[in-house]
Amino acid sequence: MPRIRSIEGLEILDSRGRPTVKATCVLQSGASASASVPSGASTGRAEAVELRDGDPSRYGGYGCLKAVYHINGEINRKLSGRTFASQAELDRALIDLDGTPDKSRLGANAILAVSIAHSRASALEGGAPLYRYFAEMSGQPITRFPRPTLNLFSGGMHGGRQVAIQDVLVVPASAGSFRQSLEITHAVYAAAVELMAERFDARWLTADEGGLAPPVNRAEELLELAIEAIERAGLTPGVHVCLAADLASSHFFKDGAYRLDGKSLNSHEMKEQLVDWARRYPIVSLEDGLAEEDWDHWPELCKRLSPTTLTLGDDLLCTHPRRIQNAIQSNACNALLLKVNQIGTLTEALEACQLARDAGWMVTVSVRSGETEDDWFSDLAVGWSGHQTKAGSITQSERLAKYNRLLEIEKEMPLPMIPWPH
Ligand code: PGA
Ligand code: ZN
Repeated sequence: MPRIRSIEGLEILDSRGRPTVKATCVLQSGASASASVPSGASTGRAEAVELRDGDPSRYGGYGCLKAVYHINGEINRKLSGRTFASQAELDRALIDLDGTPDKSRLGANAILAVSIAHSRASALEGGAPLYRYFAEMSGQPITRFPRPTLNLFSGGMHGGRQVAIQDVLVVPASAGSFRQSLEITHAVYAAAVELMAERFDARWLTADEGGLAPPVNRAEELLELAIEAIERAGLTPGVHVCLAADLASSHFFKDGAYRLDGKSLNSHEMKEQLVDWARRYPIVSLEDGLAEEDWDHWPELCKRLSPTTLTLGDDLLCTHPRRIQNAIQSNACNALLLKVNQIGTLTEALEACQLARDAGWMVTVSVRSGETEDDWFSDLAVGWSGHQTKAGSITQSERLAKYNRLLEIEKEMPLPMIPWPH
């Protein structure tokens, strides 16, 4: 592993126009690489803590100057001149330096930016593409390409809360390559735009991740519209294109009840609603169908949705190895949404990924709703052999940076895609 010459931080802006952190790692050889970190809006309670300045006179308190100060100060002093035998050793040094269980002292945003900048600089020095570095780190060969799930419609915190549920996604199930997955998704997206103009007499409005945000009144209308868009594109729902949904239901669960479409559902009623949707629509993956504090009801939901629909845990798991272990033991779900910044270092995220895989789960590697033009996500999704990706819609440059990088990787290394439905 190379010797570090210096580490530097910079406050930059994300796709919502909010500050985030970029770190640059310069090695003794002069090789230099940077990485930027994303930020969520519909965050889980157990996520590692992003350090924000809290100064209301700058960016509404979202400034990241303190995190940058820690990179330029303590982190730079501690790491400069040192050589780490592995990425795990570097990450351990960052975790120890921070000294808190949730990375709140130096900031998970500062720590992760440094962790990834170091991985990129090391890959550069070794002359390997970043996905190879990630594959070596995971100890697993790359044998397949992840299948994308792409946002079509949004509500909830990403779409202005016209309905409570957050995202309805398309899964181009019949595509034989990543390139073809994007072609199919474009056809469905274009059909959905036409449909919105006809139905609502409105120019489309996009949500945080580039999905369309139609002014519907009932959550299920997003599923109905998705089916119509697929058919309008000349494709067959459930054959060429399946659906996925992220309900992000922690965000409409209050006082023990789910507030959906003006109704108040208890956990049992919510579960029945989800099972009914999964029966009537070709939904192959259902994320955060129940709230993160509603653990007791997840195993029953998982059982009822199996084997046709994955029960995917995002806020429930927060990419946290201990929470994943609990979920494995209680059969609470059978798929992990992997968001590296929920845990704050590459090494811990890999541990989470391996735990899930060893339990026979599927892994969907995900971006955040607040993203940058950085594309390390794509190398990671391929390098760690993710089964699926979730990077938003096929609009907006911060999303396309990921898809365009995946197209490049696919060209360098054409591989079969994981079959789905499986
Ligand atoms: P977030 O949401 O990045 O806004 O937290 C994404 C998701 O819930 O999957
Ligand atoms: Zn989610």
